[in-house]
Amino acid sequence: MLLRRAARSSWRAAGRRWFGSRSPRVEGAPREKADAVVIGAGVVGLSVGRALAMAGREVIVLEASGSFGTGTSSRNSEVIHAGIYYPANSLKARFCLRGKELLYKYCAEREIPHKRIGKLIVATSDAEIPKLEAIFARGKGNGVEDLEMIEQSRVVEMEPEVRCVKAVLSPSSGIVDSHSLMLSLLGEAESHGTTISYNTTVVGGHVENNRLHLHISETKGLESNTGNSHLQAQLMLTPNLIINSAGLSAVPLAKRFLGLSQSIVPDAYYARGCYFTLAQTRKPPFYRLIYPLPEEGGIGVHVTLDLNGSIKFGPDVEWIDGIDDLACFLNRFDYFVNPDRSAKFYGEIRKYFPNLKDGFLEPGYSGIRPKISGRGQAPLDFIVQGEDVHGVEGLVNLFGIESPGLTSSLAIAEHVISKYIR
Ligand SMILES: Cc1cc2nc3c(=O)[nH]c(=O)nc-3n(C[C@H](O)[C@H](O)[C@H](O)COP(=O)(O)OP(=O)(O)OC[C@H]3O[C@@H](n4cnc5c(N)ncnc54)[C@H](O)[C@@H]3O)c2cc1C
Ligand SMILES: *[C@@H]1O[C@H](CO)[C@@H](O)[C@H](O)[C@H]1NC(C)=O
Ligand SMILES: *[C@@H]1O[C@H](CO)[C@@H](O)[C@H](O)[C@H]1NC(C)=O
Repeated sequence: MLLRRAARSSWRAAGRRWFGSRSPRVEGAPREKADAVVIGAGVVGLSVGRALAMAGREVIVLEASGSFGTGTSSRNSEVIHAGIYYPANSLKARFCLRGKELLYKYCAEREIPHKRIGKLIVATSDAEIPKLEAIFARGKGNGVEDLEMIEQSRVVEMEPEVRCVKAVLSPSSGIVDSHSLMLSLLGEAESHGTTISYNTTVVGGHVENNRLHLHISETKGLESNTGNSHLQAQLMLTPNLIINSAGLSAVPLAKRFLGLSQSIVPDAYYARGCYFTLAQTRKPPFYRLIYPLPEEGGIGVHVTLDLNGSIKFGPDVEWIDGIDDLACFLNRFDYFVNPDRSAKFYGEIRKYFPNLKDGFLEPGYSGIRPKISGRGQAPLDFIVQGEDVHGVEGLVNLFGIESPGLTSSLAIAEHVISKYIR
């Protein structure tokens, strides 16, 4: 315990000492030790940090931006997924089901705004029915036992605005206020001794004596950098345990871990998803989440309600390339929602919501999916990679944590603790 406290106070002293200095040092940057370091304060990093702290570890969360949850965790549909679409026995299926259960319980116990509003997956033509049946079978196979196949007449009673020929009802799907969730995770992590270091970017690392040494820089010192040129480290930190939960940066960061076998690091791909909101209507036209059948790279331009009852449509899928590492670390993505994209939205949405009037879609926000398979390639599972895979002591990489990562966050944390903490 004393040792741990010492490590922590020396980290803080080092922070003052070195991050205060104006000229960044490269080689010969000061070295410090730490117990458990979590890279990234998104919903996954916060969940893992909290779980580690509650397991008695001395946790430091390193976050490049000035606040928590500024990445994908605040740019998503905020849907608690049931666990329907994912291949049998995949981590996505397992973590989604377990995460859903943990999340409903967590939110209920802490009065975090959430609602089990249910969801309909709709087939809008007879030709789509086999696909709908396949989704139903897959969901049942994954253990989503409450799924129901329902006829059009029942859909009309439940959702008068929705046009379809058949639908799957998923009663356990819901919505959650992700900001309140993260605030709660953060508070509990901190009350168990976690230190969060904002404005602190991990720029790379190297393996020495089979341990990963992290190269760290104050974010401010990087902001004037352009491109991918050498990113200077101001501090080298050697933790006993490192969780790379850097979201969109997890892969580019691992590519900068010198000495880590690069054959086990996947390629990174980025796919933007834009949302359009439904202009103020007197009463929301839907009671539940409404999803068309999945499209490549996403799960279709669906209807999401937030807890205030306002409606958004999205996300679509737009592959983007030419992302450099620094842009990624500093979250300098292009999140602009081009109003022109609404043309495609109108067409897709009217297949199941024919009463959508012209001019009623307004640009909302966008998020970017941390993909590890590209356009036209089969989607891949989450990757949770520890010493058993790459041989580096104490390093756990989390790659490809796209949807259902929000739903899965507590289950990912549970898994990391049970598998990698001795
Ligand atoms: C459009 C869209 C819709 C989605 N909808 C849903 C949904 O409805 N339900 C669901 O369950 N999931 C959904 N998801 C998935 C979910 O949002 C993500 O899986 C989840 O938010 C990932 O959390 P994270 O903590 O891994 O990543 P992030 O939230 O991105 O957090 C990573 C953090 O790491 C920090 N960071 C990055 N690089 C560095 C560095 N070098 N050094 C230090 N810090 C760094 C970032 O600043 C960021 O804060 C959706 C995703 C998208 C894109
Ligand atoms: C992070 O940096 C920003 C901009 O430099 C600054 O305004 C903010 O106070 C910093 N936050 C923390 C927690 O240090
Ligand atoms: C609901 O509306 C309030 C006030 O407009 C806003 O502050 C809040 O963020 C909204 N909540 C959600 C979940 O969108």
